[in-house]
Amino acid sequence: MAFTFFFRDLGSLELAISHLLPQAAGRSRIRIWDAGCAMGQEPFTLAMLLAEQLSPMMFRNVEIIASDYDEGVIKVLDNAVYPYEQLQRIPELYFKRYLEPSGTEGEYRVVAPIRKAVRSVLHDLLSFTPVIDRLSLIVCKNVLLHFNQAERIKVFNMFHDALEPQGLLVTEHTQKLPPEAGHLFSQVTTQCQLFCRTEVQLSIQASNAITDGRT
Ligand SMILES: C[S@@+](CC[C@H](N)C(=O)[O-])C[C@H]1O[C@@H](n2cnc3c(N)ncnc32)[C@H](O)[C@@H]1O
Repeated sequence: MAFTFFFRDLGSLELAISHLLPQAAGRSRIRIWDAGCAMGQEPFTLAMLLAEQLSPMMFRNVEIIASDYDEGVIKVLDNAVYPYEQLQRIPELYFKRYLEPSGTEGEYRVVAPIRKAVRSVLHDLLSFTPVIDRLSLIVCKNVLLHFNQAERIKVFNMFHDALEPQGLLVTEHTQKLPPEAGHLFSQVTTQCQLFCRTEVQLSIQASNAITDGRT
C-alpha cells in the first residue's frame, strides 16, 4: 500500500489553495486533479481545507478528480473509511467536522459533503493523457520520483496542456522542474514547489505566425 497520510505537507497545500481561490472566485466550477492520490488522504485533505474556506454554496462547485493506477487504493478511497490510527494527524477541528463513526468500532468515515467533492478515476500517468482538461489546479506529490527523466518531462507537458491559463501545479519539495520543461511553468513562490502555467508555447506560435506573415 502507498505511504501517505492526512494533512501531509499541509504548508504546500495551503499555499496552493491561497493562490487558487482568488483566481477561481466567481467560477461555477473549480476543477482540481490529484494525480497519484493513493487511498484518498490527500484529496480528502484538500476538500476539507476548501470546505473550511468556502461557503457551502461555493464548495458545491469544487470538483476534485482523484486518480491512481492502483485499483486497490481507489477502492479504499471510494469507501472513505479509515482506522482511527490513520486519522490522528487530522487537527481536532477538522476531525470533529469531517469524520463520523463508520459503524465499526475504531473506524471513521469521511462525511458525505467531502466525499461528494472527490471523484475517483483509475488512471495511469504514464498514458500521458489527462483525466480532464481546463483544470485550475493539479496536485501531483510523491509520484514523479518513480518515473525516469524522459517520462517526467512528458508528464509535465501533459499537465501544462491540461491546465487552464494561469492554472497551478504543486509537487513535493524535492521535485525540481526538469530544464526541458522550464518554459512550461513559472515558480510562484520559493516556499514550496508551486508552479503557474506559462503561455510560452502560445507566444512562440504567435511570434512564428508573425514572422511567417500569417497575422
Ligand atoms: C507515495 S504515494 C503519494 C500519495 C500522495 N500524493 C502523497 O503525496 O501523499 C504514490 C502514489 O502514486 C501512485 N502511482 C505510482 N505510479 C503511478 C502511475 N504511473 N500512474 C498513477 N499513479 C501512480 C501509487 O499507486 C501511489 O498511490
